[in-house]
Amino acid sequence: MRVLFVCLGNICRSPTAEGVLRQKLRAAGLAERIEVASAGTGNWHVGKPPDARSQRAAKRRGYDLSAQRAQQVTAMDFNRYDLILAMDQSNLRDLKALQPAGALAELDLFLRRYAGVKDEVPDPYYDGDHGFEEVLDLVDRACDLLVIELKGRL
Ligand code: 4NP
Repeated sequence: MRVLFVCLGNICRSPTAEGVLRQKLRAAGLAERIEVASAGTGNWHVGKPPDARSQRAAKRRGYDLSAQRAQQVTAMDFNRYDLILAMDQSNLRDLKALQPAGALAELDLFLRRYAGVKDEVPDPYYDGDHGFEEVLDLVDRACDLLVIELKGRL
């Protein structure tokens, strides 16, 4: 099974979700069966590592994002991944516009199924440290629930 997280720049939110889910899958013994990746709808940061602020916030909780590099989502991804999870409504709209007819991937808002109060992971890029902490809070909790869901699908 293959999961793709998508945000705007692929340097803050979706790489955080990728790193967090990968580590939780490893801990659950599922790393061999479920592949995780992330991408951005935009191409500005392609090839770059995650934002230093995201890396720091992740590291404080034991997640290492340093090996990840940004890439842009493509129409082909809709036939490469089983589940594509958008961080906010704007990402979801952009993905729907890119989705080829008859594509196999299931497309949804990441927090729609795992949400507490919020259904979007807010863009922290122009925010202070608080925004990056909030991304980690939301992603960490949602990934715990996503692991349970994915287990049920295997
Ligand atoms: P992300 O955050 O979508 O969570 O990676 C952003 C990163 C870069 C930009 C916007 C959002 N940007 O405008 O360059």
